[in-house]
Amino acid sequence: MVDYYRRQGIKAWSNGEVPFRISSNPYIANAYAEIITGYLRDVSNVDDSVRSVTIIELGAGSGQFGYLLARALVERTIANAAYKGPSFKYLMTDVADSNVSEWAKNPRLRFLVEQGIMEFAVLDVADPYSAMIAVSRRSLEQFNSGNPVVVIANYVLDVLVHDAFSVRDGKLNEVRIGVEIGKKMPEIIGSKEVFESLAFNRTATPVKFPYYNEPDLDSVLKSYSTTLRSATFLFPVSALRFMEKVGQMSGGRMLMIVSDKAYIRTDQLEGQNGLNLAVTGSFSAIINLDAVARWIGEHGGVVKVPDSASSHFDTYAFLLRHTGDFVNLSDAFSRAVDDLGPASYWAVAENVMHHTGGFTLRALLGFLKLSCYDPYLVMAMKESLLQAANEADVEGGERLYSALSKVWGNYYPMGGNRARRDVAFLLGRLFRRLRKPERSLECFRASMEEFGAHCSVLRNIGICYEELGEKEEALSYYREASRLRPDLPAEEGITRLSQVDEIVASR
Ligand SMILES: C[S@@+](CC[C@H](N)C(=O)[O-])C[C@H]1O[C@@H](n2cnc3c(N)ncnc32)[C@H](O)[C@@H]1O
Repeated sequence: MVDYYRRQGIKAWSNGEVPFRISSNPYIANAYAEIITGYLRDVSNVDDSVRSVTIIELGAGSGQFGYLLARALVERTIANAAYKGPSFKYLMTDVADSNVSEWAKNPRLRFLVEQGIMEFAVLDVADPYSAMIAVSRRSLEQFNSGNPVVVIANYVLDVLVHDAFSVRDGKLNEVRIGVEIGKKMPEIIGSKEVFESLAFNRTATPVKFPYYNEPDLDSVLKSYSTTLRSATFLFPVSALRFMEKVGQMSGGRMLMIVSDKAYIRTDQLEGQNGLNLAVTGSFSAIINLDAVARWIGEHGGVVKVPDSASSHFDTYAFLLRHTGDFVNLSDAFSRAVDDLGPASYWAVAENVMHHTGGFTLRALLGFLKLSCYDPYLVMAMKESLLQAANEADVEGGERLYSALSKVWGNYYPMGGNRARRDVAFLLGRLFRRLRKPERSLECFRASMEEFGAHCSVLRNIGICYEELGEKEEALSYYREASRLRPDLPAEEGITRLSQVDEIVASR
């Protein structure tokens, strides 16, 4: 499984093989920022000598969520004059070094690194102490230097190593999973096709305690023999060992926020007979967060669960044995997860995105605001937005410009399929229709940086220069565009702007 992510690198997300929009959009990033800011305030109420908290994102994948969360946190803390709590350092990590090297090249992340807000590390959740921080060449413990830690685990605990057990008639059994590979074995080991061709078989043997020889793990495992009647379940052994280590590193001051498909209550495990593995590029499972909650309970901690939690994607928080009442964290969790949480928001957003036509400007502005200015929402509402930008009056145009500028701030380039993912080009077109040629130029240049030169982008750059009165520069871009599409002669460029616009609009 790790091989799959190492080999695919950022393509796992930019090609759309691994679902990530639900766990990496601006809405969920803002929800996390609310919760973490509440936590930071609580930490300083308990101990005002804490100057900094370390945020460790596990399995950060594309890096989009980390980018959005770090920005949203800066807005609420460092850039907020009224904020008085500790600052934060954001450590974005993944087991796949291919992802980490992509982050280092990303212009949006580079900015955060240069500001001293973010660092990267190749980190295997199973072996966190061997991680080396990319820029400062420190170990995880040196990097943290005893501060409280916030762990972020979106869609990652499910891809770690789990053990499987069953309970029948009050007896706990270890379930050993065998893998059968299909007769037509695909060529690439670790490919999506290999995972799809796998079948699983299992055998059960009675568990004898001590099983792990680690008292905390054994105690949680043993508790299932008396609380479940009949079930097969996963035990998140890697996740629990990782939490143990972070607990030691932070003096027991740890908050973990998880968004995943999970069982959080024992009654959700009762009666389950399968392991519910799903192929998502590699494969994933519904994680047993009930075991994490039991572990947290045994350590005197607190678990925050959304009122309407189901085994579908949802957001949970686990606070390890702090002193203090943590009211800010509780309030923030209620607002950010119980009210209209990331899971419910996404259920609405995904549906709205399938009905993209005919929105009024007011509806578009409202929905952009609700989404916390999601760039991919703009992509889905392309036709309505282009029309609104054409028809807006001065006031409407300024409001749209302001909303789209926020969208642009959230944009995170990761390449992939140009037709589906070139948000920069679309924003450039929208800004041009709103008569903001400088902003358009910025977007068109970013589009070329991300996806390479393209006739339509070059022509649009030419048009922007023309609107700025720089005709020589404009002509040179028209010529460049004509080299890529000789059927559109450059010399006609300046006199044919309206036609060019039509050609571009019909792409
Ligand atoms: C399903 S993706 C989730 C990515 C991202 N968090 C999101 O929500 O889009 C799982 C990520 O976990 C990483 N991963 C897999 N095994 C890991 C391990 N043992 N330690 C750390 N990361 C791991 C993969 O490389 C991949 O980036």
